Amino acid sequence: MPDALARGPRVHLRPLDPDDEAEFLRLVRRSRTLHRPWSHPPATPDSFRELAASRPGDARLVICRNEDGVIVGYFALGQIVYGHFRNAYLGYYAFEPYAGHGYMREGLELVLRHAFGALKLHRVQASIQPENERSIALVRSAGFRKEGFSLRYLKIGGRWRDHEHWAITIEDRRAPHQPA
Ligand SMILES: CC(C)(COP(=O)(O)OP(=O)(O)OC[C@H]1O[C@@H](n2cnc3c(N)ncnc32)[C@H](O)[C@@H]1OP(=O)(O)O)[C@@H](O)C(=O)NCCC(=O)NCCS
Repeated sequence: MPDALARGPRVHLRPLDPDDEAEFLRLVRRSRTLHRPWSHPPATPDSFRELAASRPGDARLVICRNEDGVIVGYFALGQIVYGHFRNAYLGYYAFEPYAGHGYMREGLELVLRHAFGALKLHRVQASIQPENERSIALVRSAGFRKEGFSLRYLKIGGRWRDHEHWAITIEDRRAPHQPA
């Protein structure tokens, strides 16, 4: 497996690997109730291979538990643009039976360390459906600020859904904003 990109007390961050296919697809099957209606992760070998194929401008990452290496969650830093923007769009989902144990919170901290460190980004944005309270709580607890709202912004599960835009910049990391 690839080396860890960042390590915390309970979990570490590493790139998604083609060899994760069987474990990843098993976790997706087991997590269907958790993921719907918010996320539709790859559920077939072909869609997993498409996800795992490396592409410039996209970092596909997994959070693994330190004690046994099991995958507990997934994060993507997508559409990475440098130049005057240095921005990425963040996507994520936890896996059952590991959701609700604080692994995603710790994992998000590692993702941000990687994004603002090795990847030299300036800003990370997560777009979240307003009803997705668990997801909003996760980014808010990591210091993201709500920046805006777009009607029918992303097509999820076959329908165009409204989304809130939550963002964090490197300056927010240096001087954390107090959540409202
Ligand atoms: C949103 C999502 C990723 C959150 O994952 P999670 O595993 O619940 O997140 P975490 O456990 O790391 O953190 C959140 C909770 O764990 C709790 N927690 C933190 N540290 C903990 C610890 N050491 N032990 C136990 N619980 C802990 C937090 O208090 C928080 O609880 P709360 O929900 O009561 O506020 C998950 O719900 C999910 O996959 N949802 C479906 C997909 C999705 O919505 N993706 C995002 C689309 S925008």
